[in-house]
Amino acid sequence: MKRIALIEGDGVGKEVVPAARRVLDAVGAPFEYVALEAGWQVFIRTGNALPQVTIDTLRTCDGALLGAVNSPSHRVDGYSSPVVALRTLLDLYANLRPIISAPVAASRPNINLLIVRENTECLYVKQEWLENDGNTAVAQRIITRHASERIARSAFAAASNRARHTRESGKLPRVTVVHKANVLSVSDGLFRSACMDVAQEFSQIEVEEQLVDSMAYRLILEPERYDVVVAPNLYGDILSDAAAALVGGLGLAPSANMGDDFVLAEPVHGSAPDIAGKGIANPTATILAAALLLDALGLPTPAGRIRHAVDAALRTSTLTRDLGGSASTCDFTNAVIAHLA
Ligand code: NAI
Ligand code: MG
Repeated sequence: MKRIALIEGDGVGKEVVPAARRVLDAVGAPFEYVALEAGWQVFIRTGNALPQVTIDTLRTCDGALLGAVNSPSHRVDGYSSPVVALRTLLDLYANLRPIISAPVAASRPNINLLIVRENTECLYVKQEWLENDGNTAVAQRIITRHASERIARSAFAAASNRARHTRESGKLPRVTVVHKANVLSVSDGLFRSACMDVAQEFSQIEVEEQLVDSMAYRLILEPERYDVVVAPNLYGDILSDAAAALVGGLGLAPSANMGDDFVLAEPVHGSAPDIAGKGIANPTATILAAALLLDALGLPTPAGRIRHAVDAALRTSTLTRDLGGSASTCDFTNAVIAHLA
């Protein structure tokens, strides 16, 4: 039995995590669950968005599935995103975001890429302050050789693992290093050179580099050509939301925050306040995040069954509204479970 934390969080997190839990139960995942709190609602109630009991209990778990949390866009004293904090506290340094064509009208075909986003530094160290009587805002951006080499190794290792699939589709395994070292020659320059050094250890994997702005352009223009894409935190965050739009939208995109001995899986999307509480959120991203959790815990068979069932359910007309249908979260989850049989 693996011990898994379920953190629903806020908004649609409260709908999509229970849906994914039903699928995990139906596939017979050898998990025991512990429910934990984090996010805006627990902050309003207790003044703490990430209660100590959540952190302490997570350290006793093998992994976690998180829905999403609300984070206000203005500064609120005492509040800071628990998701960013958890990634740092548990040293979940690699954020893996697979972007794969789905059998829905909104998805373009022949896309199968993996965005490997550095998850612990860059601008997300959140060291910001005001100067000049509040008229100048300064943010510190930290890039270390250690974190850059570590994320590069995750990316090249992932490309090696994907190599068989990549070759079957007639492509060479390849890592694309994303940066903006032409402008940020010191910080992105360090990220770039760390990645290029690690590339030497993986001679069977092709390496290329792409400036982040032209990467955004080429990702939309010819997403089929990419295999593994590695990027510093902020660029990886932005590119993965954009890439999700190519394959059916945020309702379908899962992610896994990986450390050396812990995995926190979550959908790429946020708490979707515009649709929360209506029972219409697409649970697919979270169900596929549950499959990533199974994979990371060495359970590829149930993970594969879940992907298969999601694929089959997406081919029917039982689709949620984001995909042009009228099914509820519950209807679609039932369809996935029916296809597990
Ligand atoms: P969002 O991802 O919550 O929503 C963007 C758009 O996608 C909305 O139109 C929403 O309805 C749609 N969408 C998202 N998930 C969906 C689903 N499962 N099914 C159908 N449609 C879905 O991004 P937004 O609106 O920028 O942020 C809302 C809140 O979420 C903010 O407070 C933000 O801070 C937070 N957030 C939290 C994240 C996390 O917990 N990891 C990640 C991103 C945002
Ligand atoms: Mg994001």
